[in-house]
Amino acid sequence: MGFFSNISGEQRSIFANELALDYNFVPKLIPFRDMQQKYIASCIKPLFSNRNGKNIVLFGPPGVGKTVATRHILNEMEEESDDIVPVYINCWNKNTSYKVAIEICDILDYKFTQNKKTEELFAIIKNLLNRKSAVFVFDEIDKAEDYDFLYTLLEDIYRKTIILITNYKSWVAELDDRIKSRLVPELLEFRAYNREEINGILKERAGYAFIPQCVEEPVFDFVAKRTIDMGGDVRTGIYMLREAGMIAEESGQGCVMIGHAEKATSKMVDFSIKKTEELDDETQKIFTLVKMKSGGKIGELFKLYQDEGGNLSYKSFQRKIAKLDENKFISAEKIMGGSEGTTTMISLPQEKKLTEF
Ligand SMILES: Nc1ncnc2c1ncn2[C@@H]1O[C@H](COP(=O)(O)OP(=O)(O)OP(=O)(O)O)[C@@H](O)[C@H]1O
Ligand SMILES: [Mg+2]
Repeated sequence: MGFFSNISGEQRSIFANELALDYNFVPKLIPFRDMQQKYIASCIKPLFSNRNGKNIVLFGPPGVGKTVATRHILNEMEEESDDIVPVYINCWNKNTSYKVAIEICDILDYKFTQNKKTEELFAIIKNLLNRKSAVFVFDEIDKAEDYDFLYTLLEDIYRKTIILITNYKSWVAELDDRIKSRLVPELLEFRAYNREEINGILKERAGYAFIPQCVEEPVFDFVAKRTIDMGGDVRTGIYMLREAGMIAEESGQGCVMIGHAEKATSKMVDFSIKKTEELDDETQKIFTLVKMKSGGKIGELFKLYQDEGGNLSYKSFQRKIAKLDENKFISAEKIMGGSEGTTTMISLPQEKKLTEF
C-alpha cells in the first residue's frame, strides 16, 4: 500500500477554492472597512473630473485590512475609468527611488529602462503620466530607504493621489519638511478588529474557500479568539483556518470541526503566546515593535520605542533587547565596521512575515 493509495476520485475535497486563503486574495467585499474605503475614494474622486486629488496616510497595526481595502478601491477605480492609472508598489522590496522608478515603468509598460539613471526614468514617467491622472500607493512606506521618489512625484505629476501605508502613525512626523509640506496628507486610522469582526471576516472568507456548510459555526469564534490572543492580525486567523481545513481533510471527516481548529491553533500557540506572556510589560512592548519593524538597526528601534511613548533609558532598552535575543524571541546581530561603524541589527528569528506562508 502506498502513501497515496486511499486517495480516490470519490473523496471530495472540502476546499472549493484554496486560493481564497492566500494572503493577497482580494475578496469582493471588505466588511468593517466601509468608512475607510469611502474616505479613500473621496480623496481620489477629484481625479475623475481632471482635478488634483488628495494625499492620504493610512496607518494601523499589522493585518487589519489596510492593503486589502486599498487594493479593492484600486480595482473598483480601474473598472470605472481608463484615464486614472493605478500604481501600487510595496516598498518592502522596492525600497529605493531607482527600484520604484523601474517598477513604475514596468507598470506603465515602458521597456527601455536599461542604462538609464533614476532621474531619466522619472522624466519619462512624468511624460507618460501627465497625459492622464494617477493614484500611487506606496505600501509599507517606512521600509523605503530614501524618499526622493516622493518628492519627485509630488513636484512633477500634476493630477494625482498619493496613498502611503504604514504601521506607525509617528512615521509622518519624521518625514523631511520638504516632502511633508508638499504632501499635506490626511491621516486615516485602521484600528484593530474586535473578535466579532474577525469572526465575520473569517466566515466570509470561508464562503469562498470551502464547499458550502462544511465549517462548523463554533470554529469561527474559536479561531477569532485565538487571533485576538495572538495580536489581532487577520492573517493569523486565515492561516489557522486553512490549517484546520487541511487537518479536517486528512481526518476524512468531511467538515471542519472545533477539534481540527484546536489542533491547528495549538501549533501556533506554542510558537508565540505562551512564552510572550512570561515577558514583562516593557519587554512585550519592545517585542511588539520588533514584530512591526523587523530588520532595522537598534538605534532606529529605540527611536520608535520613544516615539511610541517608551521611557526606558537606552542602556535598559539594550538589556531588554539582549534578553529577547537570549530567549530566541528576536535575533540581534552585530554588524562590524559598516558605514556608520558597529551597529546591531534587530529582526525576528525567521525573517518571514506571515504574508509569505
Ligand atoms: N475587512 C476585511 N475583509 C476581508 N478580508 C480582510 C479584511 N481585513 C483584513 N483582511 C484579510 O486579512 C489579511 C491581512 O490584511 P491586509 O493585508 O490588508 O493587512 P494590513 O493592514 O495591510 O497589514 P500589514 O500592516 O501587515 O501590511 C489579508 O489576507 C486580507 O485579505
Ligand atoms: Mg499591508
